[in-house]
Amino acid sequence: MSRYRIAWLPGDGIGGECCEAARTVLDAVGFQAEYIHGDIGWEFWRTEGDPLPQRTLDLLRSTDCAFFGAITSKPASVANTELAPELQGKGFVYRSPIVQMRQLLDLYVCLRPCKAFPGNPLNYQPDIDIAVFRENTEGMYIGVEFPKVPESFYAEPGMKRIPRDAAISIRSVTREGSRRIVQSAFEYAAKNGRSKVTAVHKANVLRATCGVFLEEAEKVAKEYPNIQFDTANVDAICMWLLKNPNNYEVIVTTNLFGDILSDLCAQMVGGMGFGYSGNIGDKYAVFEPTHGSAPKYAGMNKVNPIATILAAKMMLEWLGENAQAAEIERAVAQVIAEGKTRTYDLGGAHKTSQMAEAIACTVGKSAYVTSGVP
Ligand code: IPM
Ligand code: MG
Repeated sequence: MSRYRIAWLPGDGIGGECCEAARTVLDAVGFQAEYIHGDIGWEFWRTEGDPLPQRTLDLLRSTDCAFFGAITSKPASVANTELAPELQGKGFVYRSPIVQMRQLLDLYVCLRPCKAFPGNPLNYQPDIDIAVFRENTEGMYIGVEFPKVPESFYAEPGMKRIPRDAAISIRSVTREGSRRIVQSAFEYAAKNGRSKVTAVHKANVLRATCGVFLEEAEKVAKEYPNIQFDTANVDAICMWLLKNPNNYEVIVTTNLFGDILSDLCAQMVGGMGFGYSGNIGDKYAVFEPTHGSAPKYAGMNKVNPIATILAAKMMLEWLGENAQAAEIERAVAQVIAEGKTRTYDLGGAHKTSQMAEAIACTVGKSAYVTSGVP
């Protein structure tokens, strides 16, 4: 009997082929699970007015965790025109299903490890190994937005400065939300032998929201006297990351800054073919590659599946299957170091499925070419 029940959500575009690739490797490593398909993505927005139908939410609530491929999201104006004619004008509002899953299931940690695998020709510099902790439920992503300033706002002091036709997005940052993401970052640092945590903010301008984040970060840091604590403004760290990426080990930040910084860090270790994420709460988690659905590559069996395969590795770690997780990472490292199988982003012509098979075939076979491979 299968040990785990996994909600399997391939989603849109390249999501399906990348999830298939991850399955090949999960099977090779001997992971025992029942995979239950869930409907999610653009098709369900168009035909049902909901990209994350209730039946999928029910599935999430009855499984151990979820594995998610990618979804297409489009701005509101485009989303509305693509809705089935009989659903138009009925008040359906498109909201990104991944953002919804994070909020509805309180998956407050978005962990995005960015590690330069030796031999990856796309590495910006060798030895980069940065874990980005992105707060995943609040900040700029709470979905409280006004296409025009509500009249009642003008009763508040200071609001008169806002032009009447301005659009407004509200940013909310709580002490509890800040504390728990910073604590997760420190716990990760402590467990993984990292010596420094850097909290990223813009408290000189966003005084209220970043002020709360920074104050809580400083309090949490005092509970971990053996780990160095550092702070940086978000603009400055973009420069410093490019200048001296090896100065950073664990970065913790609010939602929007984490979204942006995690793409920057992923690019330094090979780009979107290598960026993977865990959306993690106290009871549930959703694992995914950081990339989108890349419609122009959909169905071509072309993109690099390593990000999705590493997301599967993170899922196994979260489930406590550490030996299988380590074996996937070792096999990925070996295939990269050997450099014989390369998808187009790595300068080669191998297919998504060929990369998956190369990694799957390496699983269980200890490194016979070990130059530079841990
Ligand atoms: C990510 C993505 C999502 C986000 C999009 C698809 C809503 O960019 O996971 O980083 O902004 O969080
Ligand atoms: Mg992003």
